[in-house]
Amino acid sequence: MAVRSWLFVPGDSEKKLDKIAGTAADVVILDLEDSVAPDNKARARDMTAAWLGAHQSKVTDGKRMGRWVRINDLGSRYWRDDLIAVLPGAPDGIMLPKSAGPESIQQLAAELYELEPRAGLPAGSIKVMPLVSETASAAISIPAYAAASLPRLGGLTWGAEDLSAAIGATRKRGSDGEWTDTFRFARVQTLLTAHARGIMAIDTLHADFADEAGLRRMAEASRADGFAGMLAIHPAQVPVINAAFTPSEAELAEARAIVEAFKANPDAGTLQIDRRMIDRPHLTLAQRILGLEN
Ligand code: COA
Ligand code: MG
Repeated sequence: MAVRSWLFVPGDSEKKLDKIAGTAADVVILDLEDSVAPDNKARARDMTAAWLGAHQSKVTDGKRMGRWVRINDLGSRYWRDDLIAVLPGAPDGIMLPKSAGPESIQQLAAELYELEPRAGLPAGSIKVMPLVSETASAAISIPAYAAASLPRLGGLTWGAEDLSAAIGATRKRGSDGEWTDTFRFARVQTLLTAHARGIMAIDTLHADFADEAGLRRMAEASRADGFAGMLAIHPAQVPVINAAFTPSEAELAEARAIVEAFKANPDAGTLQIDRRMIDRPHLTLAQRILGLEN
């Protein structure tokens, strides 16, 4: 399943829920957390459950849209009721905000094992993806996810908004438009930890949804850095992200040339193409790029 664009949709907005089917998001994240006011939590839960029930599987261009739910954090009084409400709709996964570390995933997993059979779902079928950087203590222990026993962990993602509030950072980017060190630190650890584990790394969102050029730059950098996809908050961001995470014809042609060159010279450790040195890591990368083609 493609995982380029992950569109957040507030779970209590009928209008926005109705828009999902018209977007080309690879994954929709029905949000019960920060985009829903406390008085609307119960309503959002019901509406999200109803949407999941009515949209068991949406297929666009032969691809199925992923259906995830962001529940409320484990310190809240909402998260268990969130799970009870949405599990019968068989979401692909649960996004966990303000995750403190592997112990949070284990706590969530224990609850999922209780609830899956009640919802008629196979045990262990629901994946989990935490937001790993939303408190200072979480942000300094991201690598703990690399080796912990967490069979449901499907990917890692990070967020800048909660962390900036938690540490009183009044800026997230410098005058050059790049993340400041704090956020770069969280981002890189998310990326490397996900790869250390062999799960997907999903980059954070661009909140300025009118800034299409900035989003394109950010999404292109994300893919170039090794992220598998990126969070979105507005339907207009989806095509930009999808395009940025799709390899260009030139990249595909180069990757095919590298694969062909090694096929023609199976004993070679290193080769040259157009006067550039090509060795085994280039082959690995080329194979990854071609894998993205499907
Ligand atoms: N999902 C589905 N539809 C959305 C959407 C979303 N995330 N964001 C906007 N839309 C819809 C709007 O309802 C609007 O529909 P209309 O044309 O029928 O009026 C259309 O897309 C254009 O939206 P626009 O007017 O540009 O923005 P807005 O003021 O309605 O909404 C936000 C702006 C930021 C409030 C909205 O994009 C949003 O709610 N984003 C998600 C927030 C979220 O989930 N945050 C949690 C993660 S940080
Ligand atoms: Mg948040």
